[in-house]
Amino acid sequence: MSHQLAVLASGTGSILAAMIEQGLPIKLVVVDRNCGAFEIAKEAKIPSVLLPRTFGPDFDRCKYTQDTLTLLCAHEIGLVAMDGFMTVFSSLMFEPGAYQFRFLNTHPSLLPSFKGNHAVRDALDYGVKISGCTIYMATAELDAGLIIAQEPVPVITGDTEESLHERIKEVERKLYPKIIQELIKD
Ligand code: GRF
Repeated sequence: MSHQLAVLASGTGSILAAMIEQGLPIKLVVVDRNCGAFEIAKEAKIPSVLLPRTFGPDFDRCKYTQDTLTLLCAHEIGLVAMDGFMTVFSSLMFEPGAYQFRFLNTHPSLLPSFKGNHAVRDALDYGVKISGCTIYMATAELDAGLIIAQEPVPVITGDTEESLHERIKEVERKLYPKIIQELIKD
């Protein structure tokens, strides 16, 4: 596979920053909104593209998927890593001729527990004593692909959503770049 790496992000991009710091060869950053990750990419002089999306019933998931796929192919991207990207792509993205098994994501829980956008809050509300993060191969189904790596993070008495999420992200900033390095090394 081509080792050209793209990162897709929607948030602060602290994991993207860690990837850059650790020397990952990122060729393209795609964001779906104006966000911290967009600024981090521009500052690092990595080609970055804003593909804005709408929210609500008019959102055309198939068209958005096709537009993103076209962009990734135009940049000859071989491996995609999502960092807090808030859009789930349709199955077109994950066909064998597209990015099947070449599309990673990181999630702040030990999947299959606590899928979705409020994973840390849901884990705390449930009262788990151990949470963590999961690196997996994304599919068209939310947080449901093949698990590549997981690391536990203990919940501490008095944890808030913010404090627990930050400790999970500290782990993600090390584990995720390491997994990507392993996938692109040969
Ligand atoms: C990470 O916790 C990731 O698992 C989740 O969103 C967060 C992204 O963090 N999907 P950042 O934007 O890189 O700081």
